[in-house]
Amino acid sequence: MSTELTESAVPPSTAPHSAPSRRTFIATTTAVGGAVVAGGLITDPAALAAETEAAAEAPPSGRVSLTVNGKRHTVTVDNRTALLDLLREHLNLPGSKKGCNAGACGACTVLVDGRRVNSCLTLAVRLEGAEVTTIEGLAPGGEDGELHPLQKAFIEEDAFQCGYCTPGQIMSGVGCIQEGHTGSRDEIREWMSGNICRCGCYVKIVRAVEQTAHGK
Ligand code: FES
Ligand code: FES
Repeated sequence: MSTELTESAVPPSTAPHSAPSRRTFIATTTAVGGAVVAGGLITDPAALAAETEAAAEAPPSGRVSLTVNGKRHTVTVDNRTALLDLLREHLNLPGSKKGCNAGACGACTVLVDGRRVNSCLTLAVRLEGAEVTTIEGLAPGGEDGELHPLQKAFIEEDAFQCGYCTPGQIMSGVGCIQEGHTGSRDEIREWMSGNICRCGCYVKIVRAVEQTAHGK
């Protein structure tokens, strides 16, 4: 037999005297709402209804301050916004690519506080105070300056064809080198295995990472 109690199943004599009924609750909140409206916030019931409806439909949003490529940004975004979409659609930084949008290809790889992450799986609102580096901010000399050594190595080794995976490969390669996972080509291959290249440039990508790490 079910033990679940519903409102109608509770005998009046056992209900706590201090507990308000649903009717009392609705009447009270309506009165308070009316007072707020009469207090001057919104006087038109139609406007209030529209406002209430809009508030119910608006997705929950959050405010976050983070540094991207050395520049501080404070933005208010839908709580569900991924870092990748924040970069591409809000901050005009389209260098990080959207491949699978599910954490399986690595095209969206960026550095967050020096660690590589799949930005498509990272919620922007959780990055309060974070330092993010994207492919646009990797070159020490800025957009018109000298390239990062790994960017140069990719060019020297001809480590790309279509180039779609390349920003993610380079950011992941930088992380791989910083983490010290470059003891052998096999180790580089393993620690770069989250970055897929549909053009099959793996041999040259590994060579570029190795060359940058060891000057080979
Ligand atoms: Fe992020 Fe594929 S787009 S892992
Ligand atoms: Fe085309 Fe890697 S260069 S996907």
